[in-house]
Amino acid sequence: MNFGLLRKLREHFLSETPGLRADYWENAEQLKEYDQTFAARISWKWDAVLRELKELGWTPGPGKPAVLDWGCGTGIASRHFLRDFPAPLFSELRFWDRSRLAREFTKNQLTNLGGSTPVHEGAERSDPSLPLILLLSHVLGELEHRLGEELMSLVSQAQTVIWVEPGTPALSRRLIEVRENLRGLFQVWAPCPHQARCGLLALENDRHWCHHFAEPPSEVFQSADWTKFSREMEIDLRSLPVSYLVLDRRPLAPRAARLIGRPRSYKGYALALRCAESGVHEEKYGKAEQPELIKTFKRNRFHIDLP
Ligand SMILES: C[S@@+](CC[C@H](N)C(=O)[O-])C[C@H]1O[C@@H](n2cnc3c(N)ncnc32)[C@H](O)[C@@H]1O
Repeated sequence: MNFGLLRKLREHFLSETPGLRADYWENAEQLKEYDQTFAARISWKWDAVLRELKELGWTPGPGKPAVLDWGCGTGIASRHFLRDFPAPLFSELRFWDRSRLAREFTKNQLTNLGGSTPVHEGAERSDPSLPLILLLSHVLGELEHRLGEELMSLVSQAQTVIWVEPGTPALSRRLIEVRENLRGLFQVWAPCPHQARCGLLALENDRHWCHHFAEPPSEVFQSADWTKFSREMEIDLRSLPVSYLVLDRRPLAPRAARLIGRPRSYKGYALALRCAESGVHEEKYGKAEQPELIKTFKRNRFHIDLP
């Protein structure tokens, strides 16, 4: 691992406005280093979100949709999406990034995975009547506050939008804004258990944000490379906060409530932030009354439905 190069990238991502300056990808080595480290961590978030979608019964649908990975970087989002929903389900795999180097990297990766499904650069579908599945991963921090016209036009054409971002307060708030603007056009499949206004917009919830924790694969904790990465980059591998949003035109059954963030454990009870159509409230769950739920809290699952 080239830590000098990775540190430079990380400083850039943590800066106030990472993407507002021009293309920052400098060479293929940088993309490869990113792909094996930061992008791998992002892939664990995608795996968690895709697992939840499968639990909810989401499928790409019968009409052989086109898949588009916009702001693809090294194409980690589409590559992990295709592990769960393989290429033959789709009419074409598309990718777009403003960086030519990123496009080249992704093209090589997707061509290996695509089999007989065509792989194309560019955001415009070959046939606009095909349903569109739009994958967005870690792009929000690089966009102007008002999302660009190009992206909004793509979102408005999509059958499905799967959008995964870091679980920071600022990005979660931006994703909530996107949700509020789009919930009339789409059904919100996840993370929300309802279609009403986001309860985190209530004044009393302004210190909370919508985030969940993905888990790295267990082998990461036995890997000398990942241990070194964690030490050198000062990144805690166990903590993988995610904010995400899945929108689809197709309906789904409402759920009662789900957990936001991590519950806080006390003697005899836990306090958990409960999201439901009635709002987001901190609830007390007793260890004696809800032993199974308390065990689930301890397992740190990504998606926990609450009574
Ligand atoms: C943090 S990287 C994330 C890459 C990849 N989606 C991932 O999850 O690993 C953000 C990507 O968005 C691209 N990007 C930023 N602004 C863009 C724009 N206006 N149009 C297209 N791509 C853009 C950057 O070049 C970069 O590859």
